[in-house]
Amino acid sequence: MKVINQYFTLSNGVTMPKIGLGTWQVKDGDEAYQTVLSALKNGYRHIDTAEGYRNEASVGRAIKDSGIPRNEIFVTSKLESHIKSYDGALKAFEETLKALDFEYLDLFLIHAPWPWSEVGKECNEGNVQAYKAMEVLYKSGKIRAIGISNFSPEHIDNIIDNCEIVPHVNQIAYFIGLDQSATIAHCKKHNIFVEAYSPLGTGRLLKNVQINQMADKYGVTAAQICIRYCLEKGTAPLPKSTHEDRIIMNADVDFEIKPEDMAILDKIKKDF
Ligand code: A2P
Repeated sequence: MKVINQYFTLSNGVTMPKIGLGTWQVKDGDEAYQTVLSALKNGYRHIDTAEGYRNEASVGRAIKDSGIPRNEIFVTSKLESHIKSYDGALKAFEETLKALDFEYLDLFLIHAPWPWSEVGKECNEGNVQAYKAMEVLYKSGKIRAIGISNFSPEHIDNIIDNCEIVPHVNQIAYFIGLDQSATIAHCKKHNIFVEAYSPLGTGRLLKNVQINQMADKYGVTAAQICIRYCLEKGTAPLPKSTHEDRIIMNADVDFEIKPEDMAILDKIKKDF
């Protein structure tokens, strides 16, 4: 079976397509609408958005207009990074559902451990409060899985120690050259599934000489090597493109990178 049709299973038994379409920096309106429609037309069944991307309404509209049953598409959104309260999280979730025009969401994540405007700020209590609201929504059936994003081991422990449900997912930046081994090992230990955003290093990895040499060896593109790398590591890549040819290419990763070549890719240092 092609990778685009394959699923990972989260700790609560919910299944999630292995490859998702990232929509960070995809503009609301026609761009987001056409991008999501194009991905769905080409076999994607996993769409990743966020309140902070300001494109939920267009994403939701494209999903509806695709004609594909809602329950065949896995949709993620994220609580805005500055919302660190119980009531704030409940309210923001309702706004997300309204924007998407959905009855339920597949996955809802705390976007970051701190507001993007105050990176590094300690928000342990706020994260616990926001997560407790998400637990209530999860138990009520309005969300099928809950989790966190950009959380490092100490942020994860804060949630595990003070909340009831171990997060089902941690979505982190992950690409060749970015060492996330400590966070990934911590997630694995607690059965938290890791999703990889920016698997192409926001596009910058595509110029890397060694990755291009590896692509030539396998007869694929550099983008396909980057995406396949994340899959070989057991993570779910969320490549973003607004171009149909690239959307198709990024899901066409039905090859395996040999362990000795993974070891070469593991040694590449981020050069930007
Ligand atoms: P575009 O949207 O114009 O296609 P990441 O997923 O790591 O965040 O990378 C996204 C960036 O990489 C975007 O700038 C996107 O541009 C570009 N990109 C995505 N897929 C490909 C591809 N297959 N070939 C070249 N560039 C790509």
